[in-house]
Amino acid sequence: MGVEQQSDTNAAIWKSDEIVATWAAQAAERERSHGAQWRFMAELLPFGAEAEVTFLDLGAGTGAASRAILERHPRSSAVLADFSPEMMGAGEAELRPFAGRYRYVEFDLLAGAWPTAIPAAVDAVVTSLCVHHLPDERKRSLFGEIAARLRPGGWYLNYDPVRAEDPVVAAAWSRVTDQENPDAVRRRLHPTADEQARWENHVRYISPLDVQLEYLRSAGFGGVEVWWKRLDYAIFGGYRPTPP
Ligand SMILES: C[S@@+](CC[C@H](N)C(=O)[O-])C[C@H]1O[C@@H](n2cnc3c(N)ncnc32)[C@H](O)[C@@H]1O
Repeated sequence: MGVEQQSDTNAAIWKSDEIVATWAAQAAERERSHGAQWRFMAELLPFGAEAEVTFLDLGAGTGAASRAILERHPRSSAVLADFSPEMMGAGEAELRPFAGRYRYVEFDLLAGAWPTAIPAAVDAVVTSLCVHHLPDERKRSLFGEIAARLRPGGWYLNYDPVRAEDPVVAAAWSRVTDQENPDAVRRRLHPTADEQARWENHVRYISPLDVQLEYLRSAGFGGVEVWWKRLDYAIFGGYRPTPP
């Protein structure tokens, strides 16, 4: 086992008993910070009003992005994949209003082989606040696997934190975040042991936006675009080109 894997606390954190309580306690803060972006992703997806489409949400957690899409596109269905039984269990309660239009699949994104329960072709793929938990090499290969699962013309949208390559830019991002969210300052200066562990897990593999845009292009995506960006968060993606 390499040093990186030994210090990778990701699975232990997301598959812990404590995570569900922590996650629930921060629901209002998450909605304030990310709700508009989830709704924007839903709006971006080029689904017709009556289209019966299936989309895949990888690292779906309790289904925040999926819920926004299911709400906006009433004839869509979701396949939500995650490796944490704890997060999926909590998601079942949140997704109750969409019963019959979604299902969960257990999938560890670090494993290359996709479960057979994930359809061979989907109309869109989304990821929200998850890809930054994967090492860069896996981000790159995953983007290729996502491209291969999409129907021609299908879109992939990724909402995720990105890393500033310039320290002055990074300092400006932190300064504004601290001004806007006093609890972020408290968590940074006086974290509990759990908060410190989650923070280290959060930042471990965050990579620059340009690097990830290049991964998307080399995976064969067309129309690689940054649809939204503010400080260290961005929505970006591309579509699978239709063969000539
Ligand atoms: C920050 S949460 C985001 C959840 C949800 N997408 C959202 O936006 O609210 C990260 C999610 O990624 C999942 N995750 C992290 N690493 C994973 C992996 N290797 N395979 C599958 N899921 C993973 C976690 O279990 C968790 O549900």
